[in-house]
Amino acid sequence: MSDIIRLKAPKGWINDPNGFIYYKGEYHLFYQHFPYAPQWGRMHWGHAVSTDLVHWEHKDIALYPTKKNDRSGCFSGSAVEHNGKLHIFYTGVDYTEENPENINACLNDEFTAAQLSITSENGYDFDNINDKFTVIPPIEDKNIGCKNHTRDPKVWRGKDAWYMVLGSTADKKGRLLFYKSTDLVNWEYLNFAEKDNMGWMWECPDYFETDGKGVIVFSPMGFLKDEKPYDSVAICALADFCEETGKMNISDSWQLLDCGEDLYAPQSNVDKDGNRVVIAWARMPEPFEKNRIGIYCIPRVVEVRNNHIYFRPHPNAVDLFTRKISSPTEAGEGGYKLSLDMKDGEKINIGGYKLSRNNDRITADRSNVFAGHNEIKCVFETPEIKEGYHLDIYVDKNLIEVYINNGEYVLTNTVYGLSDEIIAGNYELYTVSE
Ligand code: FRU
Repeated sequence: MSDIIRLKAPKGWINDPNGFIYYKGEYHLFYQHFPYAPQWGRMHWGHAVSTDLVHWEHKDIALYPTKKNDRSGCFSGSAVEHNGKLHIFYTGVDYTEENPENINACLNDEFTAAQLSITSENGYDFDNINDKFTVIPPIEDKNIGCKNHTRDPKVWRGKDAWYMVLGSTADKKGRLLFYKSTDLVNWEYLNFAEKDNMGWMWECPDYFETDGKGVIVFSPMGFLKDEKPYDSVAICALADFCEETGKMNISDSWQLLDCGEDLYAPQSNVDKDGNRVVIAWARMPEPFEKNRIGIYCIPRVVEVRNNHIYFRPHPNAVDLFTRKISSPTEAGEGGYKLSLDMKDGEKINIGGYKLSRNNDRITADRSNVFAGHNEIKCVFETPEIKEGYHLDIYVDKNLIEVYINNGEYVLTNTVYGLSDEIIAGNYELYTVSE
């Protein structure tokens, strides 16, 4: 099975991108996967491969539960290359109180979480029986973190050692835990970082440097407090990490990674040209096709300029949208792209998805293409825009990504039942030239 432009669930359920890496000439993108039904369950790592980040081929499942420490699921994690081998780090979960009516879920939050590793010689073959080992057992010290809500190792190479960041919680506050290793086997706890009023648990942290700046990305739970079912969004902020002490200083001026509040659990790595590229999961309230739920955004290049974090569509995606069309009905598998400049007060309608510009902000309203999900937020607004009002809108049947000024802000929403009608002033329409 293959996907173009955006990776989608091959069947069943997918959530977070995992183990994203350019390795031995190919991009490997693993994903949180429950292959048996379109709902979250005992997690496996699905696997897709690409040579260009926009044509994906789904492969066999890479990781599945085999050990006591991951018997209830192989949760999120990351990959690095060392001496030609692929090293994967992930969270193994063990339910201490299983739900008797659904053994793929636990009861009363009773589970433990450990950090595990597995390697591969080629990126395809994983010995789930013999090759897994625990690198960090469940945390016992409440001053450090939590025995169940500690997860999602992201590993990177520092100056002369490997570093790992984990998402965790202590005193009802989300936090990051930092570890160091010289051999990828033994990990020493260094320090933690936290912030007030940013949710009770931080999932899927990612730290990287780009354009000479450190950037931290994480997905805090219980942050927006608007009592909608999705109370978690992905946050990014400039940050300084000290390798000697393991301390991280996180800037107070954070940004939403995406203003549409659907993208979650992003993961980044560098592409073969050295661009920092992030991919995120778009949460969906219902399958987009029978037995398929979960879709990823277009890979985005992350850049920092004047202390602002930009997310532009990866050039390999942009370069594909070259065939000019006059109506969405002519679009191929990869959907279409609509480009325009928006005037103040202007309103446009893309198959039922409405965008408007009010002074310096863009508002999106998906209420007409999100039937039956009134409990989920439908109207979103960007912060104040500074660099103009050029919009490149990439439209898939179930995902609309609005890139403003090539990534000054991005607003992404999942949608259902878009029509082929576009109501807008001057615009250009392109689809993928296949
Ligand atoms: C985020 C998350 C991660 C966890 C995974 C489980 O969506 O909750 O923290 O590892 O999903 O599927």
